[in-house]
Amino acid sequence: MHKHDMLIVGAGLAGLRAAFEGITAGLSVAVITKVHPLRSHSCAAQGGVNAAINKQDNWEDHAYDTVKGSDYLGDQDSIDIMCKEAPQAVLDLDDMGCPFSREDDGSIAQRAFGGASFPRTAYAADRTGHAMLHTLWEQSIKNGVQVFDEYHLLEITVDKKSGRASGAIAVNIATGKIEQFASKSILIATGGYGRLFHSNTNAMINTGDGIALAMKAGAPAADLEFVQFHPTGLKSSGILISEGVRGEGAYLIGKDGKRFMQKYAPNKLELASRDVVSRSEMMEIMNGNGEDGAIFLDVRHLGKELILERLPQIRQLSIDFEGVDPIDAPIPVKPTCHYTMGGIRTDKLGMSNYLPGLFAAGEAACVSVHGSNRLGANSLLEGIVFGKITGKEMVRYMTEEGKAQPATDTSDLANVQRDVANLKARKKEGGVRAHDIREKLTKDLDMYCNVFREEKTLLKARKSVEKAKSDFEKVYVDDKADEFNTDLLTTIELGNLIILAEGTVESAIARKESRGAHTREEYPDRDDENWMKHSIASWNHNKNGIELDYEEVRTTGNPKYAPAVRSY
Ligand code: FUM
Repeated sequence: MHKHDMLIVGAGLAGLRAAFEGITAGLSVAVITKVHPLRSHSCAAQGGVNAAINKQDNWEDHAYDTVKGSDYLGDQDSIDIMCKEAPQAVLDLDDMGCPFSREDDGSIAQRAFGGASFPRTAYAADRTGHAMLHTLWEQSIKNGVQVFDEYHLLEITVDKKSGRASGAIAVNIATGKIEQFASKSILIATGGYGRLFHSNTNAMINTGDGIALAMKAGAPAADLEFVQFHPTGLKSSGILISEGVRGEGAYLIGKDGKRFMQKYAPNKLELASRDVVSRSEMMEIMNGNGEDGAIFLDVRHLGKELILERLPQIRQLSIDFEGVDPIDAPIPVKPTCHYTMGGIRTDKLGMSNYLPGLFAAGEAACVSVHGSNRLGANSLLEGIVFGKITGKEMVRYMTEEGKAQPATDTSDLANVQRDVANLKARKKEGGVRAHDIREKLTKDLDMYCNVFREEKTLLKARKSVEKAKSDFEKVYVDDKADEFNTDLLTTIELGNLIILAEGTVESAIARKESRGAHTREEYPDRDDENWMKHSIASWNHNKNGIELDYEEVRTTGNPKYAPAVRSY
């Protein structure tokens, strides 16, 4: 049994930023991560991080842009916190040595991003997440955070008497040994579940383990129906081509070679918010102005020098994965699953309202700063602001109401060991491979639960989830080894994805309006009277399925945040 004050699952920006708070407060902090911290998905974020650090900008405008971008579903108290704290959070990273790109006068460079009224996105070329993650990793090493890397989360444990989260059970991937971690508080910072869709910008690891396991432990998730489709994933692989490219002035064009965004967003054009741009692209494709399911991102007019200086990575990705050098030709792109707005429901400081001692931050959380549509470059920001705030809140919790170590039950460990052994012992005969279930499910979700949705397609998505669930009962693993058993681990990940698939599809069927990234063709308008509320998805163990409930959006009474027609 490992024992720590603070257990953090996930070593991306949110996890490492929270670890920094715990360790510098003198607590014993452990981080569990299924990959080396520098392989966390934060590393893949390209375009930048929003913060009102320019004297001509202010956090209130950033907050207004975010509330509007969220299509009025974001919790306004959380949004105010994030935007107010953003400048300091970015300057903290700068002080730690993060190599942000600079203006000639030495100030941090900022570029334009979608849905923003000011060019407030600080960046490090087109590798911003990479630079920020390395900086926080250096701080973790310097301060002695204990990292259990290549440990895969299997269960979040709960003290049956107090009802508090009491730690976690994880498998050491190198040895196959299943180990128990006891802690006074636990932070889930395991990222989102973009791998639920076949075409996505996400790392292989983004299977929503922390969210699904929190639901199973009694902490529901919110807003699972809201999935962000990034307007510029590479056509063939879905790999991200940053919004920063449009921030630098790139155009979206159809196969006719003409820009089309003036039809859909006459003021902001290519820099409207992501939901608007993705819908516009899909309309062009459906109306025959696409080619092979894609439209084009044209950067040729920006010139070789700018592309090499500010966009070197996207050039290389485009050459390597699409065979196109953007200096000479437009890049074929399409809307691709990028970010999941839903996550573990928390209060404004990151604690689950349903499971004391359990905290969540970053994409795994629904503190709801993004509501139904996230603004580009608010994700790295969410990671560093709520990593910091939630880390501090965990320190407060552990020094006040959560001082005592909750009881850990070793029968939990025995149960998990038994379940894993049973899974490995399943027979091949009459069984189904996890890969086959996953291919079918993710392709069906691409088809039936995409940018545009309607009852007819969503019911097909439901059928596909039901089939995946029943096939999963018969899933078997070929590899019986203990060491580095990726066959076993991807099967376990699939189990988590199926829970999130059910949550996503059921919440999408239930929400009879169009808001942000959720567009229902039969209900084209936003319906604030009936639907300005969060969907809450709980896991019902008896029914072995999702149950839905709703929570009011947290409003602040700021008249600027009153729901209004949203146009760009
Ligand atoms: O387009 C991008 O660079 C992605 C940024 C983000 O999702 O925030």
